[in-house]
Amino acid sequence: MASIYDAITKDHEHHRDLLDRIAATSGDSPERREAWQAFYRDVKSHSAAEEEEFYSALMQETWGQDAARHSVHEHAQMDKILEELNDMDMAASGWLTRFKALEHDYEHHMEEEEKEVFERAKKVVGEEENDAYGQRFLDRKKKEMGLVEKKKADHLED
Ligand SMILES: [Fe+2]
Ligand SMILES: [Fe+2]
Repeated sequence: MASIYDAITKDHEHHRDLLDRIAATSGDSPERREAWQAFYRDVKSHSAAEEEEFYSALMQETWGQDAARHSVHEHAQMDKILEELNDMDMAASGWLTRFKALEHDYEHHMEEEEKEVFERAKKVVGEEENDAYGQRFLDRKKKEMGLVEKKKADHLED
């Protein structure tokens, strides 16, 4: 069983690998398309599961609220760029430039979660609970994976 901290870090490692893979692609190629789709789906469901099963715990503590709000705000900012890139022509010259901005922001976000947020969270989610949190995070992420397409369709209808 994975603790919440290991489950999140494992996802981050996967995301870092996908970021590297995408950065090494060019134009509207099958490689870029495939790696981008994988990244888009995984980051969206990862962030949603973090908010629902991890940041919600931090929010219960007054001292944890600022950190949680800060991260949730960053999720919203990254989500904007994710949608922007998703709607953009991959062959356009601006695509990689925009992607680089996302890569920069997301790397900073992951590092902050692993270093600062985890430290704070350990005061709320102690050792006896962190496997249960990890399981709920993984279950929620699986559900969110199935919702990514639906949410995208709802977003387009708005
Ligand atoms: Fe996050
Ligand atoms: Fe994360």
